[in-house]
Amino acid sequence: MKHLLSISDLGADGIDEVMRITDSFVEVSERAIPKVPALRGRTVVSLFYEDSTRTRLSFETAAKRLSADTMNFSVSTSSVKKGESLRDTVETIEAMGIDAVVVRHGSSGVPWQVAQWVDASVINGGDGWHEHPTQALLDCYTIRQRLGSLEGRHVAIVGDIKHSRVARSNVLAFTALGAEVTLVAPPTLMPPSLAGWPVTVSHDLDQVLPKVDAVYLLRMQKERMTEALLPSLREYTSGYGLTMARSNLLPEGALIMHPGPMNRGVEIGADVTDLPNTVITKQVANGVAVRMAVLYLLLGSGADLVA
Ligand code: NCD
Repeated sequence: MKHLLSISDLGADGIDEVMRITDSFVEVSERAIPKVPALRGRTVVSLFYEDSTRTRLSFETAAKRLSADTMNFSVSTSSVKKGESLRDTVETIEAMGIDAVVVRHGSSGVPWQVAQWVDASVINGGDGWHEHPTQALLDCYTIRQRLGSLEGRHVAIVGDIKHSRVARSNVLAFTALGAEVTLVAPPTLMPPSLAGWPVTVSHDLDQVLPKVDAVYLLRMQKERMTEALLPSLREYTSGYGLTMARSNLLPEGALIMHPGPMNRGVEIGADVTDLPNTVITKQVANGVAVRMAVLYLLLGSGADLVA
């Protein structure tokens, strides 16, 4: 595999392979010196046109733990500010000699476009409302780690589905691994059409919560809302926020997940993050190992995995 643009590039077998390799890198991450030489001499660039904390830092950490060199491109301090086009920017970076580029952009499809312009491997770090495959992989890994498998599990994805690339990639990944997915949101935050989505839909969170193995909360993507989709955030919270009271409806052992960044007090109660079944920081920690696995898979060319 050369690029990772969509979860559908992997399919169930590919996701399983990433999970298997991730196991080794979780072990590496727990070592006193969490570093292996697998990608020595390779260069990984992050090209982020949208803000990021977790994705950018964990790709950088992942690359470093594999002994790759990293370059960090920040739009706000680059010649993009002077009007340089995406294509010229990408070709300039590639001219410096790179092996992989992690692309995040506000428009859907940009990573595919970049893949046509460069010889390097392209990883989609989030494109608009479309996909965020490495987030889905780290979420699958986290669920498997805690629940053993996704087969036959029931996951509710709750909140701003309409604007969420995380929801799109997670629906593909969770269902590929045999989970049942229910989307829960007010009608205005659902995509205009769910034709072809292998999901069920509900507008009643209280009724769904007692039946799930994991509840996955999404951030209210205020920056992508160009119209008034909600009467008020308070009203959203009263119907769809995972408050402490609501979390009591969950079966024992059900996981509480969120990709971050959280709007505490909106989609998730400030105190819910401290519950023992909340795995949000575990998701972040697994993100590093999963991204090591993805970089290794794309660039490793048979190098010894964890030596
Ligand atoms: C998400 C993103 O940027 O798509 N964050 C992340 O990568 N962990 C989700 C979000 O912004 O709400």
